[in-house]
Amino acid sequence: MSALNGSFVIAIDGPAAAGKGTLSRRIAEEYGFHHLDTGLTYRATAKALLDKGLPLDSEEIAEGIARDLELADLDRSVLARHEVGEAASKIAVMPGVRRALVDAQRRFSAKEPGTVLDGRDIGTVVCPNAPVKLYVTASSEVRARRRFDEIISAGGTAEFGEIFSDVKKRDERDMGRADSPLKPAADAHLLDTSEMSIEAAFKAAKSIIDLALKP
Ligand code: DC
Repeated sequence: MSALNGSFVIAIDGPAAAGKGTLSRRIAEEYGFHHLDTGLTYRATAKALLDKGLPLDSEEIAEGIARDLELADLDRSVLARHEVGEAASKIAVMPGVRRALVDAQRRFSAKEPGTVLDGRDIGTVVCPNAPVKLYVTASSEVRARRRFDEIISAGGTAEFGEIFSDVKKRDERDMGRADSPLKPAADAHLLDTSEMSIEAAFKAAKSIIDLALKP
């Protein structure tokens, strides 16, 4: 790896259940970089509102909660619940909430020697100057199937049709919102994982990153 001046940022975006979380963790581990799943910041804000019995439709209240968020406290296991994800996707349309969380995400991205941030708007809004941008996607059927298999293998019960329709609804909300909609940055590398194993996606990502890290 070449000597790095400042933080080297890897921006990873894509729709729900495209495999970007697993890929991001794997990349962060490979390069010894700090990793932030920015979806957890939206989830933690939504969960704090739900836990306190506060409304999900007040931008002022949600922004206040978002400003007080401690990134160090984010715990994936309690934030993974489907209802929390649904609530997160609702407050993620609020510009005030996004401003507060984007500020925190940008501070995180400056950590040395490098960072991997994954989400929906990392390459377009949070870190538009990132030297590596990946847009990880897969067909909605494949993503719904992965979610379904995850739930079943964890011992849960689910109905495929319901999950499929949730995935499509979530895409519409994430791609259709006015503020920072999900879309690939103009200079992002596209990785379609519909017919790719996580190992193959990792190898493809690694060759892109290694090239960018070359002096
Ligand atoms: O990736 P996830 O399912 O944990 O994300 C939860 C919601 O948060 C998702 O519906 C959209 C929102 N989100 C966002 O708007 N911007 C990000 N950078 C990350 C997530």
